[in-house]
Amino acid sequence: MSNFNAITTILPALEKILDKGFILLDRELTTAYSRDYTEDLQFFPEAVVLPSTVDEVAAIVRLCQENRVALTPRGAGTGLSGGALPVEGGIVMSMERFNKIQDIDTRNFQATVQPGVINQVFQEAVAEKGLFYPPDPASKGSCFLGGNIAHNSGGPRALKYGVTKDYVLNLQVVLPTGEVIWTGANTLKNSTGYNLTQLMLGSEGTLGIVTAIVFKLIPKPKHTLLMLAEFENAELACEAVGEVFREGLNPSALEFMEKSGVEITVRRLQTHFSFNEGVEAYLLIEVDGNKMDHLYDDCEQINAVLEKFGVKQVLFAESADEKEHLWRIRRAIGETVKAESVYKEEDTVVPRAELPKLLSGVKEIGQRYGFESVCYGHAGDGNLHVNILKGNMTEEQWTQGLIVAIREIFTLCKTLGGTISGEHGIGLVQKEFMDIPFPPHHLQLMRGIKHSFDPAGILNPGKIFPEIRG
Ligand code: LAC
Ligand code: ZN
Repeated sequence: MSNFNAITTILPALEKILDKGFILLDRELTTAYSRDYTEDLQFFPEAVVLPSTVDEVAAIVRLCQENRVALTPRGAGTGLSGGALPVEGGIVMSMERFNKIQDIDTRNFQATVQPGVINQVFQEAVAEKGLFYPPDPASKGSCFLGGNIAHNSGGPRALKYGVTKDYVLNLQVVLPTGEVIWTGANTLKNSTGYNLTQLMLGSEGTLGIVTAIVFKLIPKPKHTLLMLAEFENAELACEAVGEVFREGLNPSALEFMEKSGVEITVRRLQTHFSFNEGVEAYLLIEVDGNKMDHLYDDCEQINAVLEKFGVKQVLFAESADEKEHLWRIRRAIGETVKAESVYKEEDTVVPRAELPKLLSGVKEIGQRYGFESVCYGHAGDGNLHVNILKGNMTEEQWTQGLIVAIREIFTLCKTLGGTISGEHGIGLVQKEFMDIPFPPHHLQLMRGIKHSFDPAGILNPGKIFPEIRG
């Protein structure tokens, strides 16, 4: 039995808030909102609403709160933990009409934007003014900035520049009660009470609906250089990562890719790439800055470090096209592996120097439980995406054995000083593992925060917290 009411009773009131064209009821129209990028999961909402003003959002939220209707906010649906899936039915609120960049303030290096703006559109708009918004998830061409806030998204450049949380100054939020607040101030510093701005980052639409964002921007570095380093041994490649930093270098991205991930991607994208004999793993390393001489120096020093770890060959991407080609392959790994096989994606993260132990542990667990995995990700951040392929596993191994194996992987992360998600969030698919990073009293404290924001429990129900059994 659901704890929530059907939308039938609120439909007439909903039609007073929004034009009928912005309330989708037909399956044909709601299907697109029944999935996100997470595995092959599907949950249908009863209705999808498409508001475009903060007043409309507030009125709809109030209606849902008063009538106990489940309400799931949604960005572009590119999330990988099921955060945008309406698991309790009810209403999906898509933020796609909140798609305006309201202001780019070049005096203060700030921008005010709506949550439905696509990450890359925003990056390009600020770049035209010589400014830089670094967070760049693999899905930057389609993901919304509001979704980036919900998950505290990262991406390759998080390494040098930080993740979404490091760029958010202030948020306009519609609370689950329908009240509207600004969480902070448009200032670079703020020690004024509890930091509700940061509490919203990674809260996955469970505490409020973001309707406007004030971002901090930085000057855009003039140049980048990109290298592709080939290794015979994947663990040694991971060992090299920590040493790059210990040598005092500060690359803007340092990504790891297993050969199998690159192979699948190159085949699926039908693109060119020369695979050299014996190469098992790659590091994709970018440096950036304003002086080319410095960048060449950095690359030489990085090269010297990599040589200590048995690098076979280091290739330079010379042109903008070559750089984009390598980045395209890297960014497409997640999607192409998904197209290759039924899979599950784990977003493991450990302190950087523990990465080799994480990688070897994942492979050892895979051998014991009989699964293949494609590992890739943000090595410089110790953030390894582990895509587990169903391959030849039996249904029983896949549905029962794998949960135990994933528990082992996450327990290993915890033991190494890490946690169970670096940037994809908990959402639906990882909530059953939340007892690994957090003891019961810690989870209880988080539930208390959720309750004080959302006493009726209507906002994005069924996410983050494990079911209470018994
Ligand atoms: C990536 C996404 C899956 O790094 O986070 O490709
Ligand atoms: Zn990633």
